[in-house]
Amino acid sequence: MPGSPPYRKKRKGSLWQSPGMNPPQIARTRPWRETSPLMASHNPRILITAGPTYEPIDEVRFIGNRSSGRMGVSLAENASGRGWRTTLLLGPGCQTPSDQTITVMRFRTSAQLKMLLGEHWRDSDVLIMAAAVSDYAPSDTISGKHPRQSGPLTLTLEPTTDLLAELAEDCRKDQTIIGFALEEIGNLRSNGESKRIRKGVDAIVANPLDTMDSDMVDALLLMAHGREAAPDRPLTKTDFAGWLLDQLPMIQTLKQTQ
Ligand code: CTP
Repeated sequence: MPGSPPYRKKRKGSLWQSPGMNPPQIARTRPWRETSPLMASHNPRILITAGPTYEPIDEVRFIGNRSSGRMGVSLAENASGRGWRTTLLLGPGCQTPSDQTITVMRFRTSAQLKMLLGEHWRDSDVLIMAAAVSDYAPSDTISGKHPRQSGPLTLTLEPTTDLLAELAEDCRKDQTIIGFALEEIGNLRSNGESKRIRKGVDAIVANPLDTMDSDMVDALLLMAHGREAAPDRPLTKTDFAGWLLDQLPMIQTLKQTQ
């Protein structure tokens, strides 16, 4: 297809496998409904994070990013619409969903998000980390409002905890963790897959950079055993949320056959 992104060339319908994978390996596994704990549970508990983090420089300024939180909010609305017990950890500047059945907790910094995840992850079946967590935070918050100076200002930034990788280390077999990765389009598959392996998560939704400012998603879902899936066309964030939650039984089955 002229003008299509490079990773599309391998797309065949909505699901395909990586080169070198033995097709019967998956065909021989039991049907997803039999093996997936999520399908066995009538009321799964899902924890979703959404939006940016704001890491304070002083009492009025911060280091943040352009995440709108819309993808995570759509996921929460879709999960709640399925009757799942849904908790949404929502970042600053994001609109609270109108669905009153979603439990919404607010965070501003990555440290606050870490605390909330610590409180809620143990009692959840699924985590979807759609939040755009800052990789660095100022080492100290300046008290008050830092005044203008004539010379340059140097800030020292410390790396934040990789929350996804930390949670994945202690993930139980009956829990499922999905991360998001924002990548340049030419590196979508390779960077997304190395991120999935490095962070030890069950699946990564690899998104091209322009997803951040768009209503549409044209993502690639990377799972265990080198399996990949993608919708057959770009979807709105609302529709993509439904598509992604439909993939959960497959993600769980692949995890359990690792
Ligand atoms: N993430 C996290 N904790 C961080 C940074 C990211 O839990 N401190 C999570 C995000 O919520 C997302 C996934 O890790 O689900 C990938 O985030 P991304 O920003 O794409 O990757 P990074 O690990 O930050 O690596 P890089 O910025 O180098 O691409």
